[in-house]
Amino acid sequence: MKFDRKDILGMKDLSLGEINTILETAESFLEISTREIKKVPTLRGKTIINFFFEASTRTRTSFEIAGKRLSADTINISASTSSLVKGETLIDTARNLEAMNPDIIVIRHPAAGAPHSLAKMVKQSIINAGDGAHEHPSQALLDMLTIKERKGFIAGLKVAIIGDIAHSRVARSNIYGLSKMGAQVVLAGPATMLPRDIEQMGIKVYTKLEEAIVDADVVMMLRIQLEREKQNIFPSLREYSRHYCLNACTIKLAKPDAIVMHPGPINRGIEISPDIADDPSCSVILDQVNKGVAVRMALLYLLSGGKE
Ligand code: CP
Repeated sequence: MKFDRKDILGMKDLSLGEINTILETAESFLEISTREIKKVPTLRGKTIINFFFEASTRTRTSFEIAGKRLSADTINISASTSSLVKGETLIDTARNLEAMNPDIIVIRHPAAGAPHSLAKMVKQSIINAGDGAHEHPSQALLDMLTIKERKGFIAGLKVAIIGDIAHSRVARSNIYGLSKMGAQVVLAGPATMLPRDIEQMGIKVYTKLEEAIVDADVVMMLRIQLEREKQNIFPSLREYSRHYCLNACTIKLAKPDAIVMHPGPINRGIEISPDIADDPSCSVILDQVNKGVAVRMALLYLLSGGKE
């Protein structure tokens, strides 16, 4: 399928065909990261700017490695070391970056919609690396690639997403993406962490973890966003953990071959117990990180025209 998008802003606007093209392209890139010399000349001469306004370990490193493995020149900018601290606006900063003629700008921003605004204003391709509580499309794509590689298919699988759904860009992107791929998505979390109107999308919502994960093929735990704890959306971490921490007992409710996912960073013992997070028989958490490089290589490649 021809891929002629300028930007990757969210899973909501990607078609099923586009998602399949990205996943198939990513599959073809997986092998490059296993080579002794992990580099191909595909994007030689292209320039990619990683512009991160929020902390990141996985996404920023993964985009940088992806660009480098395709031989692109990659430049990292963080808000704290840019002229934003001198009062420059995001738009002025973006226009100045545009004037240096990069090919792709990867942006993470705390404000929902920031990458979408930028995409309208600059001619370069924009990739949303996480915008507030809105979307995190490359995370959902790497999650889908991990599920596909482990299970062989996505359609018909029961995927239980547990935790702070309302504030999670990972959950939102996965709900859009997995539903388009034909998975049965169910959600569980405290009532204060569940989005309103989600059931209108045909998604089942529970307030008990135990109800949601019965017979699940995939259990996706979300990070409890400690920075939001001040807002009193749950009584205490201990209380949250007592009801929503996935552990050796609750995982038994899922299918015997269920996989456990988490986008990271993990709060061990709060949303997932260390024995489950580190159990190679079910946890695919580090595999998700591994697949992230191939997915981001695919996104950079497809936005660059997708030609050898
Ligand atoms: N999953 C994820 O987005 O992790 P980082 O915040 O470390 O990029």
